Amino acid sequence: MDLRSLRIDRDLKQRDVAAAVGVPARELGKWERGLADVPPEALAALAAVLGVDPQALKLAQSALRAAPTAGEGYTTSRAGAGEIVPRRAPAPAGALRVLDLFCGAGGLSFGFEQAGGFVTTGGIDLLPDRIATFTTNHAHATGISADIAAFPLDALAEAVGPTDVIVGGPPCQGFSSIRPFRTLTEGDARNTLAEHYILVLARLRPRWFVFENVVGLLTHEGGARLRAVLAGLTGAGYTVTWRVLNAASYGVPQNRERVVIVGSRDGVPFLWPRPTHRHDARSMAGPRAEVLRAGAGDVDLPRAVTLDDAIGDLPPVPSGAEADRYAPDMPPRTAYQARMRVGAAGLTLHRATSHSAKMLNIIRHAGANIHALPPGLVTSGFSSCYSRLDADTPSTTLTVNFVHPASNRCIHPTQDRALTPREGARVQSFPDRFVFRGSAAHVVRQIGNAVPPLVGEALARAILASEAALLPDHGRATLQIQTVSSDSGTPTASSAPASSGRSP
Ligand SMILES: C[S@@+](CC[C@H](N)C(=O)[O-])C[C@H]1O[C@@H](n2cnc3c(N)ncnc32)[C@H](O)[C@@H]1O
Repeated sequence: MDLRSLRIDRDLKQRDVAAAVGVPARELGKWERGLADVPPEALAALAAVLGVDPQALKLAQSALRAAPTAGEGYTTSRAGAGEIVPRRAPAPAGALRVLDLFCGAGGLSFGFEQAGGFVTTGGIDLLPDRIATFTTNHAHATGISADIAAFPLDALAEAVGPTDVIVGGPPCQGFSSIRPFRTLTEGDARNTLAEHYILVLARLRPRWFVFENVVGLLTHEGGARLRAVLAGLTGAGYTVTWRVLNAASYGVPQNRERVVIVGSRDGVPFLWPRPTHRHDARSMAGPRAEVLRAGAGDVDLPRAVTLDDAIGDLPPVPSGAEADRYAPDMPPRTAYQARMRVGAAGLTLHRATSHSAKMLNIIRHAGANIHALPPGLVTSGFSSCYSRLDADTPSTTLTVNFVHPASNRCIHPTQDRALTPREGARVQSFPDRFVFRGSAAHVVRQIGNAVPPLVGEALARAILASEAALLPDHGRATLQIQTVSSDSGTPTASSAPASSGRSP
């Protein structure tokens, strides 16, 4: 894990860590963003404060230096300067038009398109490499590479045109200072990224919005952050509902939980998507009623898609090696693998990190957690560092460092190396035809940061189901609507029309 993730994980303030190490907070901020090297003496002091192995911290920092986090809520010289990449094709008539804020690679809006009935017409992100990927995969979308805080609302509205759905997850720095909607104004330097989301929402007034965020949003400041966000979104004129979703419950081969807030301009009750897969992991959110789970009546659901179901057809590659074609003797064995290959011209991004001899020795001994390593091989680290994934369960949550074993559990179940970017993309449910642009390090961050497209697809179908439920003849529609789920009294929608071709 890199410096910033470690500090946040330990609930330490930047200024306190900086004081402990004897540097100005600004300097620590640069190290955290990967914009400057941490000097060796400071590295040792930092490792001591954070309780980690200096070598592991050094490795994580060099990965970060290769791909600085300019886009994780910070504005730096690496930000796009408001470049607009025009759409390559006009949006088809009749589809609901989606604007993706903080779009990254566009996993969320790509999922909406996969659901059918939606077309992505715009996206904005701070980083040019994100916009390059986003526009490559969204032919009907105008991509804007800019700091949302510095891009005028009028220009955004003009560039993207009419919008039916806004989707996106603002990086959560500074949510606590959210002010009531009525006091928000464009151009106010105090505006947080969540407030910019709300300002765009209030300006474009789409029928629906989807606001995605980390589960930590629920507990920050005793829930004050979440309440402030909900109040802001409600203040913008929306009927709002929220839940905690686990991607594995929707066919993603990954245990990845997120908070999702959905709002309707017209007061349409949102029917949350019913899980399509059985996944019994404990929720980070605890036993809250808002955690969406398979109910007692969902006994026939298939088990969650496992890591082997997702990547078992990819050719083996040793550390430092690459395979650029599927192996003829390894055809897809699961519906998930077959779905991932649809439309792909060939195999890309299946290149393994070249690990040092020391790291390879650690990897050879790696097991389910750091405690599987023989004593003395590494001196410290989180339980999940240097850990091997289990082929027979969904993957652990992918992070933006998943090609480095010192970070969260990311070693291949049977091969001695970290996951390849292609395997990471599969774990996130990006099909092999999805094209990533940018440097290798950028691509890994784009993958690790994305909302899995299959989650976007489930949410998009639920929007369609919610609108269909209001039609007078909805009982005859192909979408089957359930008004109440068996476990939590949550209104839900079964998400898939019979002909959807959804993965198992
Ligand atoms: C979690 S990622 C988004 C992932 C995306 N929803 C997906 O599904 O692929 C957050 C994104 O916010 C972008 N971002 C951060 N600060 C921003 C800002 N001030 N203006 C615009 N985009 C910003 C980052 O560059 C990053 O790509």
